[in-house]
Amino acid sequence: MSSQAMIQVRDLTMRFGGLTALDHLNMDIHEGEILGLLGPNGSGKTTFFNVLTGLYRASEGSILYEGEEVTGKTPQEVYRSGVARTFQRSRLSLPLTVFDNIVIGDYQHMQHGLVFNLFRRKAFRAEYNAYVEKVTALLNIFSPPLVARLFEPVETFTMIDRRRIEVCRALMSQPRLLLLDEPSAGMTHDETHTLMSDIMDVRKKLPTLSVVLIEHEMNVIERITDRCVVLNYGSKIAEGTYAEITADPDVQTAYLGEETV
Ligand SMILES: Nc1ncnc2c1ncn2[C@@H]1O[C@H](COP(=O)(O)OP(=O)(O)O)[C@@H](O)[C@H]1O
Ligand SMILES: [Mg+2]
Repeated sequence: MSSQAMIQVRDLTMRFGGLTALDHLNMDIHEGEILGLLGPNGSGKTTFFNVLTGLYRASEGSILYEGEEVTGKTPQEVYRSGVARTFQRSRLSLPLTVFDNIVIGDYQHMQHGLVFNLFRRKAFRAEYNAYVEKVTALLNIFSPPLVARLFEPVETFTMIDRRRIEVCRALMSQPRLLLLDEPSAGMTHDETHTLMSDIMDVRKKLPTLSVVLIEHEMNVIERITDRCVVLNYGSKIAEGTYAEITADPDVQTAYLGEETV
């Protein structure tokens, strides 16, 4: 069992009407690796995240997580089992504070709901304080400069800080697998590299965390990933190190006309 990959994707197929977004996809995700997920627009990358996190139900095939079937589980069940993600489009609540936005990431673990809070302020207070401690500890790992601004609204932050907040929110559940869907979208070249350094720091501090990164900027992929999988029309067309996949003629053909290679 321990020699098996943490996640095993087997013949995974996802159809939307007549469109096949994932076509008998086979791939593994290993503990502790940073895996780059590449492919032209529309090749099925986000769909893979949506199936893996229980948002979509696969048409065929399976995803095993430590040997257990994931397909058919609800997003809450998958999340509780240790898979967290960020979305291609930001899902932060801009008027809310950094603290509120990050704690939402852990809402399912909260002991005390709203009605309870009205009657038991002390218990709520204790839980609230524990959350302040937890969020502060997390920010100290990922983005120490944000600690001082914990109670400022997210709308006052730059794009890169907002992305950091989203990653912190995903890390709140102490996941074993972190899925990042184009985290550098809308950021400058320098911001992208800073964010990637942050992600590499997290990996150093949490060495068993696995990360799957959807990213278009090839020098980021080269710098940060241990291994890459390339999709085209929902199928895997190449797999290997950055050097291996960029030398692959199928990959070069798939990217012809795209600006990324
Ligand atoms: N909910 C959906 N309904 C219908 N088609 C979808 C849906 N989600 C994705 N698709 C289609 O599936 C294909 C793969 O999309 P996606 O996974 O978003 O690609 P990528 O993230 O690689 O750019 C695209 O053709 C897209 O239009
Ligand atoms: Mg996408």
